[in-house]
Amino acid sequence: MALQNLNVLLGVTGGIAAYKAPDLVRKLTGLGANVRVVLSPSSAAFVTPLSLQAVSGNPVHQYLLDPEAEAGMGHIELARWADVLLIAPATAHCIAKLAHGMADDLLTTLVLATTAPVFIAPAMNQQMWAAQATQANLAIIAQRDITLLGPASGEQACGDIGYGRMLETIDIAEQVDHAIATMPNVANNPLTMSEHHAVDDHTNSLPLQGKHIVITAGPTREAIDPVRYISNHSSGKMGYSLAMQAVEMGATVTLISGPVDLHAPAVCRVLQVQSALDMHSAVLNTVNQGCDIFIACAAVADYRVADVAAQKIKKDNDEMQLTLVKNPDILADVAALPTPPFTLGFAAETHDVEHYARAKLTRKKLNMIAANDVSRDDIGFNHSDNALTVFTPETQISLPKQDKLALAKQLLTIVAKHVSTH
Ligand code: PMT
Repeated sequence: MALQNLNVLLGVTGGIAAYKAPDLVRKLTGLGANVRVVLSPSSAAFVTPLSLQAVSGNPVHQYLLDPEAEAGMGHIELARWADVLLIAPATAHCIAKLAHGMADDLLTTLVLATTAPVFIAPAMNQQMWAAQATQANLAIIAQRDITLLGPASGEQACGDIGYGRMLETIDIAEQVDHAIATMPNVANNPLTMSEHHAVDDHTNSLPLQGKHIVITAGPTREAIDPVRYISNHSSGKMGYSLAMQAVEMGATVTLISGPVDLHAPAVCRVLQVQSALDMHSAVLNTVNQGCDIFIACAAVADYRVADVAAQKIKKDNDEMQLTLVKNPDILADVAALPTPPFTLGFAAETHDVEHYARAKLTRKKLNMIAANDVSRDDIGFNHSDNALTVFTPETQISLPKQDKLALAKQLLTIVAKHVSTH
């Protein structure tokens, strides 16, 4: 438990999900954290200071200009006290204020005054989440050292369905705990968290700045005849999430995508392909022009039809047989280049996940492999969420179930650390 004995400042802003704040406090204290709560002016309409004081065991902080509070633990002391600042729920209004560096209440002032890592768990109506203004504000926030947790997709208090639900409190607490654990030497560092961040700030660069990353995503389609093909259930969400997060972390990205229903991210170069052979040549051409990191997230068909019919096959027979031949292994071919980039493969397994993932890591001579259990019906192919276990020859890290975008950021943070010592 990385949060053991750390000071977590929980900011609560004014949305319906604020009623979950006492439960979130319990989840955080359950992981060993000391929790103090800061309420935004409107959040007290949804949750009472008294209940938060009772569950946290600490006074609740509400006002920036409170002479009594400033005489005790004022806003600068509170900002210094925090090892972690978590805002949950974070409303669209709060996100807009953070994006523009406003400091018109205690919570937003603390965000500017602290050197602790900041996490936000948005909660809002799906249309408000999708609004151009909110997305533009999130894009600004993504340039900073602020980690987005969720939101999840599902039924909302207003009856709408879509993205904008706050993550479950247990997922928020565990994701913060995990993120802190992956910050090198932070949880057990003799430096306080604040000192650690002050050291980090000297570098002032994004973790993947200057790197060219080639990412494959989606399925491939192997033609049988002009109207039929063999494929799989990959939606491209995992690969596209990696591409978007990599750009936010400073990388230049080439996304080589099989056929998916997603909008091509405007922020990276996208090459659309159909078959495994197309993807193989697009990847090798691109990588050979210069690539620092190759991430093979696509679900590439292992076999293709030996003789693709030139015309639609007629159903004249009760049975038919297709002869399949093996496709080239794109990932293994990249890793076998004379000067290969850092190679990260994925392993989609239904059983013996660790065994097969480690076997692929070794056989394909990869630097790292991210394994997902695709037998589960809540993650993997075509789901919004995923969970990964990341293996290198020496290490193993579990990234818990979460939205693919948040997961992509955690995975790329691990990659960035390995690449810097590669
Ligand atoms: O697209 P989503 O719906 O978001 O789902 C995400 C995902 C489940 C597809 C993704 O997380 C994932 O697991 N991708 C890899 C799927 C896969 O094909 O795994 P594999 O174990 O069969 O292949 C191992 C690795 O070799 C993969 O990195 C694969 O891209 C690569 N490979 C496989 C065959 C081949 N001919 N060439 C390859 O490069």
